[in-house]
Amino acid sequence: MCGIVGYTGVNDALPFLLGGLEKLEYRGYDSAGVYIHTDDGHDMLVKEKGRVKDLEKKVANCKMQGHSGIAHTRWATHGQPSIENAHPHISADGRYYLVHNGVIENYKQLKADYLSDVVFKSQTDTEVAVQLVGKFADAGMDTLSAFRKMINLLNDDSSYAFLLIDAKTPSLLYTAKCKSPLLVGVSRTANVVTSDAMAVLNLTKDFIELRDGEIAVISKESVELYDVAGQRSTRQPFHLDIDPAAVDKGTYPFFMLKEIDEQAIVARNLIEHYFVNGLPQIDEKILSAIKQADRLYIVAAGTSYHAALIGRRFFEKWAGIPTEAHIASEFAYDHPLISKKPFFVFISQSGETADSIQVLDFIKKEHYPSLTLANVMNSTLTREADFALPILAGPEIAVASTKAYMAQILTQVILAAALAGGHDQLQAELSRLAIDLQTVIDGQDKIKELADTYLVHADRAFYIGRAADADVTLEAALKLKEISYTLVEGFAAGELKHGTISLIEQNTPVIALISQSKTAGLTRSNLEETMARGAKAMTIVTKNLASSDDDIILPALNGEMEMFGPILEAVPIQLLAYYTSLGRKLDVDHPRNLAKSVTVQ
Ligand code: F6R
Repeated sequence: MCGIVGYTGVNDALPFLLGGLEKLEYRGYDSAGVYIHTDDGHDMLVKEKGRVKDLEKKVANCKMQGHSGIAHTRWATHGQPSIENAHPHISADGRYYLVHNGVIENYKQLKADYLSDVVFKSQTDTEVAVQLVGKFADAGMDTLSAFRKMINLLNDDSSYAFLLIDAKTPSLLYTAKCKSPLLVGVSRTANVVTSDAMAVLNLTKDFIELRDGEIAVISKESVELYDVAGQRSTRQPFHLDIDPAAVDKGTYPFFMLKEIDEQAIVARNLIEHYFVNGLPQIDEKILSAIKQADRLYIVAAGTSYHAALIGRRFFEKWAGIPTEAHIASEFAYDHPLISKKPFFVFISQSGETADSIQVLDFIKKEHYPSLTLANVMNSTLTREADFALPILAGPEIAVASTKAYMAQILTQVILAAALAGGHDQLQAELSRLAIDLQTVIDGQDKIKELADTYLVHADRAFYIGRAADADVTLEAALKLKEISYTLVEGFAAGELKHGTISLIEQNTPVIALISQSKTAGLTRSNLEETMARGAKAMTIVTKNLASSDDDIILPALNGEMEMFGPILEAVPIQLLAYYTSLGRKLDVDHPRNLAKSVTVQ
C-alpha cells in the first residue's frame, strides 16, 4: 500500500527519494509525489498519477536540487487516484508539507470542528492532518507542539505514519506513527525515514523503529525521540541483516518468477534454521504455551490464510490439537465461540496486515496467548504477539505471494512436529522435499506450454480437488485470479454437482489437483463429469497416483509423505498463474488495484 521516504543529509535528496519510491513500487500504488526544499530556497512539489516513472518524467523538467525532502506512493482510500489527491499535501499557508500512510477515521469530524474556514484542495483524509498542523502553528504553536496536537486529535480507530516538513526549517523531518510501520534509518551522511526498509537499503541497514504514539524530530546529525507523554527517550538502532541483492531481480524478468524459483532454497534455509541434531527445535516456552491450549486458532488473510488451511492438518494429525483456520477480516467482527484455553497463531508475510492486527488487538484484551509466524520480523504482528517465529522466506517483492506461502506452510509443519515430539525423520523428509521442489521448478517449460494452451485465452477456469487438495484449490484460484484477471473458482470436487457444473461449457478449463490416495479416484470421476460436458481437463498429480496421460506429474509421495502433497502442488499452481499472466502481457509483479502489504481494513 502507500509508501513513505524522507531524506535529510549532505547529498542531493531527489535521486535518493525517487530511488526509494521505485523500491516501494512493489507495494502497490496509483500515484506518487515528491517535495524538496531547494538550495536556493524554493518549495518544489511535484505529483503525478500512475507510475513512479511518470513522476520522474515530470520531475526531469524541474530544478529540484536540495538536501532534504519527502516522497510518497499513494494507494487510494479516500478520493480517487489523481494529482490533487496524491501526497505530499500542503497546509493552506504553504508552510507545511505532509505525507501519510493509514486512515484518519474521524477526518470529517475534525474538518467540521476545526477547519470550516479552510479551502481543501483534495478529497483525502490526509489533508485534514496538514491543515490542522498549519492552523495550530498559525495560532502560535511551535511545529512540534502543533504536530503533537494534531496527532492527539485522531481517534483510536485511526492509523498513521506521518512525515512532515516545515518549509521554515526544511532540514528537519517530523515523523510519527500508530498502527502503520515507520522506520528511521541512520547513517553518517544522512538520516532518513521510510515505511519499508527496502526503500533505503542502499544508504543504511541501521534503523530506529518508531513505536506507536512516538514522535521523532530528525536532522542530518540527530534523531530526537519523544514518547507518548512528550518526554525525550533514546533507543539504539538495530541492524537489519539483509542483502540488498535479495531485493534485486537479477536476470529474472519478474520478481515472481525469481521467488517461485527460490522455494527449494527457502525449504533448505528453514531446515538449517530449525533443526539441531536432526530434530526440530522450537523455543520451549512457545511449545509449552501451545501445549496448554485446548484449541488452536490460526488467523490470517489471503494467501497466508490458505497456508493456515494446510498447516491446520499438521497440528491436528501430528500434534493432536484441534485447530481452526480463520480469515482475519471475518474473525475480527464475527468470531465463533472460543474454547476455554485457546491459543492464537497469526500467519503473515508482512506482519502488518491490518485485518490480522485487529484480531490480535482483540485477543490481547482477552489475555489469550499468541504466536506470530511472519516473514518480516520486527513488524507489528511479531512485536505485539507473545511469541514470534520467522518463516525465513527472504524479501518477497512480487505482490503475489509465492515463497512466503511455501515458508508459512513449512514453518507450521516444523512447529507441529516439534509439538508432537518424535518425527525424527522429518529433516530427511523435508530435505527430500526440497529436492522434489527443485525438480518441479526445473520442469516449468511444460507448465508454460499448458498455461499457453489452456489458460491464456480462457475467460474462466476451475480448480478442483478433495481433502488437502481442496485447500490448495483456493490458493490456486487466488493466484491465477490476482495476476491474470481470469475468473477462477477453486473448490472441493464433490461440490461440482451441487451447483458449479452448470458453468461448464465447451473448452472451459478444469484443473484437478490429485495428491491424496483416498480421494484420487473420486476427483478423477468428478473431472470426467466435467469432460463429458465439454471441459478441457488438466491434471496435476503426484507420480504414485499418476497415469501416463496426466499433464503435470509431481514426484511421488507415498504413505505418510502424502501429507506433503499441498507443498509440491504449490509450485505448478504458481507457475500456471505466472505464465498465464505473462502470456497475456500483464505486469506480473504489480497486478492492478493490489498492494503488497494491506495496512487498512
Ligand atoms: C496474495 C497475497 C495476499 C496476502 C494477504 C495477507 O498473493 O499475497 O493475499 O497473503 O494480503 O498478507 P500478509 O501475509 O502480509 O499478512
